[in-house]
Amino acid sequence: MPSASTNAERYGIVESMIRRLTPAIHHLQIQTAKVARPDGALLTHFSLVPGPGKNIIRYGNAFIAVNRERQKQADRDGKPFETITMTTLYAHRNIFEKIFTEAYDLAQQGTEGKTIIYTSKGTLWEPFGQPKRKRPFDSVVLEHGVADKILEDVKSFLDARTWYLDRGIPYRRGYLLYGPPGTGKTSFIQALAGELDFNIGMLNLSERGLTDDRLNYLLSNIPPRTIVLLEDADAAFTNRTQSDEDGFRGVTVTFSGLLNALDGVASAEERVIFLTTNHVERLDPALVRPGRVDMTVRLGEATEWQIGQLWDRFYAEVDIDGLGKLKFMQRVKELGLVGRASTAALQGLFLYNKGDIDGAITMAEGLLPKEGSDNH
Ligand SMILES: Nc1ncnc2c1ncn2[C@@H]1O[C@H](COP(=O)(O)OP(=O)(O)O)[C@@H](O)[C@H]1O
Ligand SMILES: [Mg+2]
Repeated sequence: MPSASTNAERYGIVESMIRRLTPAIHHLQIQTAKVARPDGALLTHFSLVPGPGKNIIRYGNAFIAVNRERQKQADRDGKPFETITMTTLYAHRNIFEKIFTEAYDLAQQGTEGKTIIYTSKGTLWEPFGQPKRKRPFDSVVLEHGVADKILEDVKSFLDARTWYLDRGIPYRRGYLLYGPPGTGKTSFIQALAGELDFNIGMLNLSERGLTDDRLNYLLSNIPPRTIVLLEDADAAFTNRTQSDEDGFRGVTVTFSGLLNALDGVASAEERVIFLTTNHVERLDPALVRPGRVDMTVRLGEATEWQIGQLWDRFYAEVDIDGLGKLKFMQRVKELGLVGRASTAALQGLFLYNKGDIDGAITMAEGLLPKEGSDNH
């Protein structure tokens, strides 16, 4: 008798499968999923799923014995790993493929057009909240041509798998985005992931408790189709050793720990890593080696072109004759804002003055960087 078992539960496939099978199930168990929304509201979903142990279910014409077994081993949350074994008659063996396809499609539907954000939990990557709507690629305005240059580079890397493998070169590519806060580093990587239909694994290198070992493990076990985003890369460079004096609480990744993790065991799967920093001057040149960081891009304060593009994104519909844009650009130049205001500040101004051209022009003055409040 053919049987299928898997522990791919983490990726939602098995979960969807169990839901699909529910109507004919014997031992039912109520599964509660609490979802915290960004606004703080807590949503609770209930669903009936087969409980642990043996169940007989019906799928189409076929009866399937489902055995749901908990392992002694548990993940960091204390949730036990499970093995699900399905057994049916030889004559009905073809239904497994159907079940898996259907379950896969169901799991897909939940994430279509979405980006899954993974964060680390111990040594595991775990989805953080519900999948987010993809951020449109052109909603992040970088200096003319820069976004496309990065996109093209990642795409040609992803197309070159056999080229790398044939030559025995680890199939990975690293990028470094640096520049002042609020210039779109994080948002661009989110938009890029959306454009490539990739998910994101986020790690903050300044996070306390992130040890060299954990980082190494996480970077060698990346979920499928996931861009890794290592924020605050400079944190590793202020920290040459994991000193004991600090005690465990203070431990963050060290410089050599980061390099080791970047150079770690190669897998056949692609690995795309983006590092970001507000303090490029703190980075060690040893980071910029092929396979560690292959491409370095500075994102800066808004150029004239970026300001114009952002204006269009917010006001194109109300500023039909383009007069508002002319006036705004003139005002921006009078104030000497080109190359001085961050794109985040511009977005803030435009959001505040949504649909209000005159308001945006009047308040442009507020974009002047405040004395002494320079990049922390
Ligand atoms: N170049 C940009 N184009 C569009 N929006 C931007 C840009 N830069 C910043 N923003 C907006 O400002 C906010 C902060 O941007 P973020 O990506 O976190 O900046 P960084 O990571 O460089 O500090 C986000 O809401 C983002 O949408
Ligand atoms: Mg950021």
